[in-house]
Amino acid sequence: MTRHFLNLSDAGGDAIAAMLNDAVARKNARQAWPKGQADADAPLAGHMLAMVFEKNSTRTRTSFEMAMKQLGGDSIFMASGQMQLGRGETIADTARVLSRYVDAIMIRTDDHDKVTELAHYASVPVINGLTDLSHPCQIVADLLTVMEHGKTLPGLELAWLGDGNNVLNSVVEAAGLFKFNLRIAVPEGYESDSNFIKVAKVAGANVTLTRDANEAVAGADVVVTDTWVSMGQEHAHNKMAAMMPYQVNERLMATAKPDAVFLHCLPAHRGEEVTAAVIDGPQSVIWDEAENRLHAQKSILLWALGKL
Ligand code: CP
Ligand code: NVA
Repeated sequence: MTRHFLNLSDAGGDAIAAMLNDAVARKNARQAWPKGQADADAPLAGHMLAMVFEKNSTRTRTSFEMAMKQLGGDSIFMASGQMQLGRGETIADTARVLSRYVDAIMIRTDDHDKVTELAHYASVPVINGLTDLSHPCQIVADLLTVMEHGKTLPGLELAWLGDGNNVLNSVVEAAGLFKFNLRIAVPEGYESDSNFIKVAKVAGANVTLTRDANEAVAGADVVVTDTWVSMGQEHAHNKMAAMMPYQVNERLMATAKPDAVFLHCLPAHRGEEVTAAVIDGPQSVIWDEAENRLHAQKSILLWALGKL
């Protein structure tokens, strides 16, 4: 069966745990190496990844490109506006054609159904590099970062503040797969997808929904937020006032555990969802988190291509 990675549940907890172990081992094995040098085993030598982008990206693009290079393979960057996809060629035909050229496809787009359709018609693995619904690759990197900073996943107290968006949906999935406690504080009207929450609760996650930012953060091991205005929602600036009580600032951060860490997938808007004092402060681990996109992506690619 072709291994698509459209959401974390496509791999499941055991495979993601294996990805995390592999990512740690590969990261440690290449400390201080030039970043373009391939890992000693070059496990994806001869393999090609097509990367289709319908939205902007800094981290996802660069980390996937470098991931393929470090695994001994290569990648092709394809901006959808320069593809026939951008002028009406169907997703199904695009999937069939790309499958004849490359070994795997990564896509970043808006509607999650497009990724599902691409996977349906592709005969090679499809990886979700962010949709309006979810961002699973980001959360593999986030789990890696949390573990590196000495936290264990079962029993972890994680607080999410702000918008109920795509990144949160994947955090909710992870809570179900790894049985951690998730406290979500978002304003009314901006809740995340209730299906993800239902599934996570059935799987044994302790998910608490609150309107009170202090209640969510009190005693947390990890505090997470994201932009209040995601890509494609640029018209939604009237959201700001509703979001302001959920800003992660020093006062709020001080109610978390003293060794709590702050995560943000980036790009960030200092003074909106997080203050500069927090994101540039001692509890912030955002640069490790951004670096870990690379290490996590390598393991996701290895899993999708049946090497893990
Ligand atoms: N976090 C993240 O996905 O960043 P980019 O939008 O830069 O890829
Ligand atoms: N929620 C953000 C994440 C960016 C990486 C967005 O979708 O724009």
